[in-house]
Amino acid sequence: MFKFLGIEFPLIQAPMAGSQDIALAIAVANAGGLGSLPCALLSLDEMRSEITKFRTHSSKPLNVNFFCHENPVQNIERDLLWKKTLLPYYKEFHIDPSAAGTSNRFPFDDKTCELMEELKPEVISFHFGLPEKRLIDRVKKLGAKILSSATTVDEALWLEDHGCDAIIAQGLEAGGHRGIFLSKNLETQVGIMSLVPQIVDAVKVPVIAAGGIADERGARAAFALGASAIQVGTAYLFCPEARVSSVHLEALKKAKDNSTALTNIFTGRPARGLINRIMKEIGPMTSLAPEFPLAGGALAPLKSSGSNGDFMSLWSGQSASLCEVMSAADVTKKLGSIICG
Ligand SMILES: Cc1cc2nc3c(=O)[nH]c(=O)nc-3n(C[C@H](O)[C@H](O)[C@H](O)COP(=O)(O)O)c2cc1C
Repeated sequence: MFKFLGIEFPLIQAPMAGSQDIALAIAVANAGGLGSLPCALLSLDEMRSEITKFRTHSSKPLNVNFFCHENPVQNIERDLLWKKTLLPYYKEFHIDPSAAGTSNRFPFDDKTCELMEELKPEVISFHFGLPEKRLIDRVKKLGAKILSSATTVDEALWLEDHGCDAIIAQGLEAGGHRGIFLSKNLETQVGIMSLVPQIVDAVKVPVIAAGGIADERGARAAFALGASAIQVGTAYLFCPEARVSSVHLEALKKAKDNSTALTNIFTGRPARGLINRIMKEIGPMTSLAPEFPLAGGALAPLKSSGSNGDFMSLWSGQSASLCEVMSAADVTKKLGSIICG
């Protein structure tokens, strides 16, 4: 599949909403990997402009990435309870609780599908399952290869059955949101060492290993487990082409193996990030957080409070301490040459 796409290395730069724009995708693509554009936080106009920029700066294929959650129904009581939980912090930083913003993540829908039909990315990847069948049929018709994340063998079989051309096996080590979609039980979640070979044995389509792969050893291990490609996120956060705040980057540089946890505080869905003050004090998991993606709205005015990322999501996988500050081209060539060497 990756040869067919004309990619030199079977290496995908993980789409990372909020932490990158098209500059990272361009750098990775031109160095021989598959560059990705995360669209969960972008308007249609922004998607168009980013993809157009990619086509100007690279002749390589592009992966465009979408969330496909259902938009939640607003629950006023739950929102009020959440704000009440955050009240001591609003008081500490003299914030008017009515200043709380909204938090949105846009799922793939008819309008985005229409835009993709026009702009024709070579690959479209999804997180949290897949959109409904009529949209998948349209994506297939436009000729894009379809990828999505599975966190269990059951999810991998479901994705294969519903039209995925390759499965991203997302191990528990992975940074950012878990792609979990058939269950809400986090105890079902599996480390990459167990997950990859079991998904490889269960499905006929290629498997892409994701989660904690940050250096040559992780890359080699993924292929030894039967993966056909790797998807790497956290290692690319250290690149100057990523859009990571200095607070986030400094925290990543100090991270150890046990510096992260899964938390639903920032969006309402479990995601792996560096443990900070708010995760310690009201989480890391809490039943008080509103449904995804609404939890983030009440936290928005607190994000800039405190000087060291006390209230912001600092997404990271478990292998941050294996990463180094280097260009996206160097990360791509370093990992890519190991896989292909
Ligand atoms: C900062 C950050 C943001 C992420 N955002 C997305 C996203 O928008 N879409 C997506 O499919 N996956 C997202 N992920 C998950 C990645 O696709 C991938 O599973 C993960 O980065 C792999 O683990 P690693 O970070 O240890 O390499 C994100 C990961 C990180 C670290």
